[in-house]
Amino acid sequence: MASLQDTYTLSNGVKIPVLGYGTWQVTDPQEAVEGVVNAVKEGYRHIDTAQMYKNEEYVGKGIKECGVPREELFVTSKLNNNNHGYDRARKTIEESLERLDLDYLDLFLIHWPVVKENGGDWKQDNIDTWRALEDLYDEGKLKAIGLSNFAVPHLENIEENCRIKPMVNQIRLHPGVLQEDTVEMSRKQNMVIEAWSPLSPMKYMEENTKVQAMCSEYGKSIAQILLRWSLQHGFVTLTKSVHEERIRQNADIFDFELSQGDMDYLDSLKFDELSKPDDFQER
Ligand SMILES: NC(=O)c1ccc[n+]([C@@H]2O[C@H](COP(=O)([O-])OP(=O)(O)OC[C@H]3O[C@@H](n4cnc5c(N)ncnc54)[C@H](OP(=O)(O)O)[C@@H]3O)[C@@H](O)[C@H]2O)c1
Repeated sequence: MASLQDTYTLSNGVKIPVLGYGTWQVTDPQEAVEGVVNAVKEGYRHIDTAQMYKNEEYVGKGIKECGVPREELFVTSKLNNNNHGYDRARKTIEESLERLDLDYLDLFLIHWPVVKENGGDWKQDNIDTWRALEDLYDEGKLKAIGLSNFAVPHLENIEENCRIKPMVNQIRLHPGVLQEDTVEMSRKQNMVIEAWSPLSPMKYMEENTKVQAMCSEYGKSIAQILLRWSLQHGFVTLTKSVHEERIRQNADIFDFELSQGDMDYLDSLKFDELSKPDDFQER
């Protein structure tokens, strides 16, 4: 891994850049457009949005204005929880394409496996929703399809009932939240793992003298150490900032390597505040 434009190859042959620019909580139109433009200027080629973020329109504007041809970018969006079900998923994915003003998405994900309002039959709900993604994949509107926040039982359900296997699982991963079972199962099912909110533990690590020593040794910030940790685990890493300097800093992680001892230490960290599943969910 030498640069932020390096890629992994998904199970269907599509290439996905290892570092993605995230857009969660970027609701201000100008910040959303400028964020994408600045990220692409800094070399990011992978942009992650979602119907839930309510910024697809502005992310789409950023893509138009960034000066890099569409085919050189990798753009992901995700299905909102209230858009599950075959017909609704199909319709609203078309609407995402319209808002983004794109002919196709490089990757589209079911954002969350369980829709609380639907209550009962999450299994059938996910099967029906997945079928919509499969059909749009066949039609060429989605170049790759996948899942997000799917844990082992949800993954098993899709595997047992799908026609086309999911290519990605996007989940929360960082020191303190390792989700080993989900990572293992996703990889067994031939999926690439994407890591969201990699910087969540940052403020809990500031007082940690061992982490401070790592920052001095590598000449990097805590944010850069966390992003590097994620890459070295083989995760496609998604990170967000609306500040140009941080967008640049977060991409400057390809010129150092954490030792195995440092990786093991970061793996061993626990943060009670970050371990309650419902606290960190977007929905
Ligand atoms: N599938 C899902 O359910 C799911 C859930 C959450 C996120 N995601 C995706 O994953 C992406 C990444 O997650 P995230 O948004 O939580 O991103 P993150 O990169 O883990 O954290 C972003 C936060 O850290 C700050 N920050 C960024 N770079 C920094 C730096 N170098 N130094 C200090 N602070 C820094 C940002 O503030 P400023 O913007 O003010 O710089 C922002 O508050 C999301 O944007 C979204 O696309 C997916």
